Amino acid sequence: MPQDHIISAKHLSRADIESVLDRAAEIAADPDAVADRHDGKLLGTLFFEPSTRTKMSFTAAMKRLGGDIVDMGPVDQSSVKKGESLADTVRVVEGYADALVMRHPLEGSAKMASEFVDVPLINAGDGAGQHPTQTLLDLYTIRESAGFDDLTVGIMGDLKYGRTVHSLAHALTTFDAQQHFVSPESLKLPRGVRYDLHEAGASMREHTDLDEVLDSLDVLYVTRIQAERFPDEDEYRKVAGEYQIDAETLEAAKDDLVVMHPLPRVDEIAPDVDETDHARYFEQAHNGVPVRMALLDLILEGNL
Ligand code: NCD
Repeated sequence: MPQDHIISAKHLSRADIESVLDRAAEIAADPDAVADRHDGKLLGTLFFEPSTRTKMSFTAAMKRLGGDIVDMGPVDQSSVKKGESLADTVRVVEGYADALVMRHPLEGSAKMASEFVDVPLINAGDGAGQHPTQTLLDLYTIRESAGFDDLTVGIMGDLKYGRTVHSLAHALTTFDAQQHFVSPESLKLPRGVRYDLHEAGASMREHTDLDEVLDSLDVLYVTRIQAERFPDEDEYRKVAGEYQIDAETLEAAKDDLVVMHPLPRVDEIAPDVDETDHARYFEQAHNGVPVRMALLDLILEGNL
């Protein structure tokens, strides 16, 4: 299916996802085979919000394919500071690169920006909206560690503002996973996301207590409270610090439970979990490189 821009996990079919994961596995097994594949190609990176993993792994991915990046740099040193619109910025930058990766604090910004450019635009996070490439590496990690057959996933934390959750939940419906959403009442999935999941036929339940479901889970996906998206600091303080796990919490879980987190973590996962066999979040972050190499390769070749 020709799909230039990657804006939302909602638009990724199971076949699209599997083609990226299969290509990522091939690349991970033999990275040298693609070392010069996109020699001379440039990826434009525009990050209007902080990023470590997403930006660095896209950069590493492009360089490991033989290409390079042109980066907008920090927002306060760009023409955005002079009042340039997002539409103008992307229209200019598309002339410098073969594809664009963009992160922006406003939900819907990636979709809007994509309407102004002809080169493929990849959404690296639009506010509380979507983060589809994180989902691809999450799914790669799930496939490697738990598989998709008869899969039960718990997703816990900030389900309201967490864009990684919104993307992952959609994609998991295409794999018929049973999903349990665990959060405080005030951070439940937004109504629009819940509606879309129901429409997509999701098998899902919502909980306020992890204990209700922990022993049934194959994967527990923990997320950070998205402090930067709270309109009111008092509201944030009320929930900050809830929904934390440590090694003792996990004693009630299956032995082969896989604990994931998109990172960065604050205090949701105690460091003692790192030493357990459950922890998979650093591996998950490392999977960002082969998965983004696969995605860029398929996009630059026009195969996605
Ligand atoms: C996530 C994000 O930016 O949405 N980080 C990431 O890309 N790995 C998660 C987060 O910031 O909590």
